[in-house]
Parts: sequence; structure tokens; C-alpha cells
Amino acid sequence: MIQPQMPETKNWSFHRDVEKLGWLTINTPGPVNTLSREAITELEVLVTRFEALAESGELVGVILLSGKDSGFIAGADVSEFDAMSDFSVLPEALKRTHALFARIEKLKIPVVAGIHGFCLGGGLELALACHYRVAVNDDKTRIGFPEVGLGIFPGFGGTGRSIRQAGPVDAMQIMLTGKMLRAGAARGLNLVDKLVRHRDMLRWEARKAVLQKRKSTEAGFLKRVMAMGPLRGYVAGKMKEQAGKKARVEHYPAPYALIELFEAHGNDWKAMIAGEVDAFVPLMGSDTATNLRRVFFASEALKKQGTKGVKFARVHVIGAGVMGGDIAAWCALKGMSVTLQDLDMERIQPALDRGKKLFKKRLRKKHEVDAAVLRLEADPNGKGVSRADVIIEAVVEKLEVKQSIFSGLEDRLKPGAILATNTSSIELERIAEKLKQPERLIGLHFFNPVAQLPLVEVIRSTFNTDAEIGKGAAFALAIGKSPVVVKSAPGFLVNRVLMPYMLGAVQRVEAGESKEMLDAAAVAFGMPMGPIELMDTVGLDVGKSVATELGHGVPEGSQFDRLVKEGKLGRKTGEGFYKWVDGKAQKGEVPAHGDLAGLGRELVKPLVDMTEVVLAEGVVANEGLADIGVIMGTGFAPFLGGPLKARKDGKA
Ligand code: NAI
Repeated sequence: MIQPQMPETKNWSFHRDVEKLGWLTINTPGPVNTLSREAITELEVLVTRFEALAESGELVGVILLSGKDSGFIAGADVSEFDAMSDFSVLPEALKRTHALFARIEKLKIPVVAGIHGFCLGGGLELALACHYRVAVNDDKTRIGFPEVGLGIFPGFGGTGRSIRQAGPVDAMQIMLTGKMLRAGAARGLNLVDKLVRHRDMLRWEARKAVLQKRKSTEAGFLKRVMAMGPLRGYVAGKMKEQAGKKARVEHYPAPYALIELFEAHGNDWKAMIAGEVDAFVPLMGSDTATNLRRVFFASEALKKQGTKGVKFARVHVIGAGVMGGDIAAWCALKGMSVTLQDLDMERIQPALDRGKKLFKKRLRKKHEVDAAVLRLEADPNGKGVSRADVIIEAVVEKLEVKQSIFSGLEDRLKPGAILATNTSSIELERIAEKLKQPERLIGLHFFNPVAQLPLVEVIRSTFNTDAEIGKGAAFALAIGKSPVVVKSAPGFLVNRVLMPYMLGAVQRVEAGESKEMLDAAAVAFGMPMGPIELMDTVGLDVGKSVATELGHGVPEGSQFDRLVKEGKLGRKTGEGFYKWVDGKAQKGEVPAHGDLAGLGRELVKPLVDMTEVVLAEGVVANEGLADIGVIMGTGFAPFLGGPLKARKDGKA
């Protein structure tokens, strides 16, 4: 078959087969495909050739596939966004991409996208500009618009085309939440037209789609009606109400800008696309988007840490309490075989029960839940120690207990196994001092609740070498957590910065200020939860012991001290500073205050001050790590880029 003359491209390859079908494969540099400026410019040249070949009858259709196992296209190239934020280049670049996608849509021959793995953001926008979409219906396919997480919304025509396909309500929902859909759900929303079971069936099905000239259908009237006439204003109002529950416009403007775009043009998908540019451009260069990109890169960098090639299959956890039990269940959820040890079976059983609940919540299929249950095994006699790749100790916070456990273990360990403690306050050097090989012990400090908080502080003692720390970070990544390496110093990073902030607020409550007002102020500043509600959530007993360990006084007879003595420990006992019903703090009215956000900034100041101290002491290696660690461990306002970035910008 003589191949038509095609331009040289770095990101795409093309060949035409005997049936005159064009096979276009994207394979950009790096582990995932991204739509860089270069890839888009090359696609422009290719599409010009397709137009000519279609006109002369030499091409009957184009099938767009990915050449990478990792998936279709993960989005536009975020590393170009800072440069693209410039008002002088962005509108032009967006309009060019809009024009290109419109040309694909207008091609006289069918263009079919074959999707496997990640099909996100700009990747989904390109797929939506094709005439038909086939996707692999397996566990790996993920389809969605994660742009809101970067402080923007889809800018390559995805707003209008997703509304055209899925109807306004569903399309806006996926754009506003950034939710990633599985292939079946995307089919249900009409973002995908056909499902296949395996990736090797994509080519066959896409070929059929081209030869049969299949074309996707648009959303039906019943769906579109929600964007018509006065209904649209009502729907937009509801969307704003929902958005308001999650984020404030001054912190995260993108969802609101998208809703306004919908309010103006939601009944006309082409007008929606045309309106995208003006609404999108100011967002891209906003402080929020700039900071969220910084957070994105920092969290991506965390994933690149750790020794490569180490495999972890078996984990042994000692201590089946709040933390040990949940760490064990989390590891089993993530595919590890786990043995869980405690003094007796009665203490282990509740952890197994909690584990089962977690598996049922997080795993879709019964056989997956059953397999996870089997992977989590009670082990009161510690038989799993000698087989484990990782041993995590999470027993009571007492030095002698921890020391005696570790010295009993040392001779039974598998060579190379990780030996870790989850201690939150005891220096590692003291726990390790009786070991024959003290360099083996590292800290893996998880956060409560384990299933919800992504951070694991990997604690480095003066005995450790890069080898143990590298393995510890690799293990945290293997169980889907984000590791931040921190020196063994009291409170490490997160507890150290949180304590002065929480205790400062507690003192103000004790001096008579309203707890509701203080909590509302911290939220107005951008924290996910106020400091008093957080203290209740952590547990007043835990808070008091960490505070004492860090040298902060909890005065005898203070309200805090009294509550602890009365067993009012917060959420877990149903009462602390607040009363708790069904997991919710029962709050009274927030007294009027002229500048809640300003008050919040005042409350957060000790946290930011302490982050500076911790950095200066070398507890974390650099500013970027301190910022991402505090964001992940405390929820500190991501749109401000972390405490140090916020201070630099004069915002904290
Ligand atoms: P917990 O009191 O809920 O659980 C401790 C468990 O250790 C109990 O089940 C106890 O029976 C068991 N245990 C005691 N001696 C043992 C031994 N010799 N052999 C086997 N098991 C033994 O305590 P929690 O809260 O789970 O804390 C455990 C560790 O995790 C502590 O070091 C704590 O500082 C740390 N931590 C706690 C956090 C929290 O929010 N609770 C957060 C991060 C770390």
C-alpha cells in the first residue's frame, strides 16, 4: 500500500491501510500523552492533509488511538500553563485549538476515538470533537474533566461539547466536580458511544464504526430542556448554591465562572464554546490557578520519590488500635497481604470488622471485597513477622513498650524488610537505641483517619541512610499515599505546626470568644475546618498529649483540661468543645463579625510562623515540601499554595 505523503511529526504517527482507513496514533514524550502546543500544532498540519485526502477520496476515515499503555490522553500539558497564562498568547492559542477541533468535526469522513486508560481534560475535549467514541470498559479507563482542581475549566470546547452530548445538568456536574467516570458511567451519560471489553478489541470496533459511518447522537430533548428559557436561570442558581457549599468564589472562582457561562449560553453548545475564551483567560492567570498548579506539581514530585523496583507484598502490623487497625486495613485494600498482631484476638476483631466496612465502601465487586477480607489476617502470635516485607508498629505511645517490641523482632526479620514505627511523638533515636542495627528503624507516620488523609510522614533518624528512607517512601507510594520525608524532631512537621494554631484558638475560647465564630473565621480564610472543630475531631486526649509532648502547657483547671478529665474527648465520645450528633458538631449561631477572613488569618498566623521555624530547623528539606506537607496533613488552603507561599504573597 503506497502511503500518502504526510508531514514529519514527533507526537503522532499515521498510516493508511488497504481499506483507506487512516490510523492516527498519539505518543507524546513522557509516561502519559499530553496535548502540548507542539502536539496541537502538528495535529493542525495532519488535519490539513486529512481534509485533502478526504476530498480526493483517498481516505475513508480516521481512527485516533493512543500508543501508550498508560491511556489515551491525560489532558493539556500543565507544564506549559504558566507560560500560557499570559494574556497576550492565551486567547489566540485557545481560539486556534477551537478552530482545529471544529475542523476535525467538519471533516467529511468519520473520525473515531478509541479510548483506554486516562481520557481527561483536553484529551476528552479532543475525543468529543471526534464523531464517535469507543472505550474499553475495564477498571483502568477514567473519563472526566479534572480542570477545576487546577482552578480553571475545560477550554478546548469541552464545555459546549459535553453539554451537547450529556445534556446540561450531567455535563455541568462532571465539570464542576472534576469527577472521573468509569467507561460504563461515561457511556450512560452519552460521552462514549460504544464499550468494548479489552483494549485489543478497540481497533476492530473503531474500524467498524468508521466503515458503517456511525455518528454519535446528541442529548435528547428531555435533557436539553433543563437549559431552556427561564429553567436555565433556576438550574444555574441551584448549581451556585451547591458550589457555595464546597468553596467560596473568592477562593475558587472557576466553578462560578463556568456556571455564569452556562447561564449565558447553556442552551446553545456552539455559543458556549465561543464564550469559553473570555471566561477562561482570566482564570488561567489567577493567583488561585497559579497556586493550584504549584500544588499539583509538588504532589506529582512526591510520586517520583522512593527507591525504584522494590516490591512489597506482605505487611505485618503490631497494634490493632485506632491507627494500627486502620493502617492494616488500608494496606489490605491496596492489595497487600497483611497480618495484624495485638495482645489477644478480642483486640484484633474490631479492627477486622472496621476493615470489612472499608472494603465494602471502596471496592465495587463482592469477590474483590472477599479477597481483601482474606488478605487481612489476625495474627496474635506474630507469625507474620519473619515473612513480612514491611513491619509497622502502632502500639501504645510508651517508649519501653515500643523498645521491647522491636528488640524481640530484630532476629526474626527478613533481610531487607522495612522496620517502621507509627509513633507521633517519641524520637526515633530513643526507640532504636537498643537495636543491633538501629539504622533499620524508620518512622512511617500516618494520619487519622488513615483512609482519608493522603499524607505519610517518612521519619528519618540520625541513624538512617538514604537506603531505608528511599524504601519507606516507595512503600508509602505503593499503598497510594504521598510521602514527605521529615527529620525525627518532636511533632515532626504536621503536629508541630498544627498545635500552636489549635491551642491558640482553644485559649481564645477559654477567654470567652465564640467557638463558632473562630471556626467560621478559619473557614473564611480557607481552612477546611475550624481549629476547635478540628480539636474535637482529633480527640482532646490525643491533642492534650501531643501538646504536652511539644512543651505547650495545658493549664490545670482550664476548660480543655476539665473536658479531658470528664472524658469529653470530642467527636468520638459525643461531646468535647461541641456536642456531636451523627458525626456532626452541633453549632450555634455565628456572632456577627466585620472581617471573618481577617480573623481567620490572625488565627492561622501561629501555624504559618511555625512552618517557617520547622523549615529553618531543617525538619523538611525545602519550602515546597513544607507547603505540600502542610496542605496534605492539615488541609491548609490549597488555593493559597501552602503556608509559606501564602506568607510570601502577603496573604497569611
Ligand atoms: P490505641 O490505644 O488505639 O491502640 C494501641 C494498641 O496497641 C492497642 O490495641 C493495644 O492493645 C496494643 N498493644 C499494646 N501493647 C502491645 C503489645 N505489646 N503488643 C501488641 N499490641 C500491643 O492507640 P493508637 O491511637 O492507635 O496509637 C498507636 C500509635 O500510633 C501510637 O504510637 C500513637 O502515637 C500513634 N499515632 C496515633 C494517632 C492518632 O490519631 N491516634 C495518629 C498518628 C500516630
